Amino acid sequence: MQIQRVQLQQHGDERGMLVALEKDRNVPFEIRRVYYLFATKQHVHRGQHAHRHLNQLAVTVRGSVTFLLDDGSGPVEVVLDDPARGLLLGSMVWRDMYDFSEDCVLMVLADQLYDPADYITNYDEFLREVNGPMLRGDMAAC
Ligand code: TYD
Repeated sequence: MQIQRVQLQQHGDERGMLVALEKDRNVPFEIRRVYYLFATKQHVHRGQHAHRHLNQLAVTVRGSVTFLLDDGSGPVEVVLDDPARGLLLGSMVWRDMYDFSEDCVLMVLADQLYDPADYITNYDEFLREVNGPMLRGDMAAC
């Protein structure tokens, strides 16, 4: 699941819209934690880390934000600006978040409790860890 955009089913009627997030129905993991970012200041970058063992689903419930993502194969920019579109992020994905709109509410579902020990906060260290096994494999093949 590394990095995946997902369309979330909307239950709309004349009163408005509703999206439900449910384990195994549209969230492919056990939901153990929900947190949300809001009132983010202009020109701020957040994130700038990867997780060793964490699956997450991010949804902009309101507003927009840009993610710069890297799973070791190079950076990809993804804009989240739709409450009916989610972004699944698996383990070992570097994420940098910026260009938060003033009204942005970014909600994140996660399959583990908050654990500072799971963070990789140094990009070079992330690249070493994410590419490490491949490089060792390459050397073994030589
Ligand atoms: P931080 O990791 O800096 O947020 P981001 O990576 O999105 O920029 O978290 C900000 C603060 O919130 C920090 O003191 C840790 C705390 N925090 C929790 O207590 N629980 C959580 O689930 C998260 C994500 C952060």
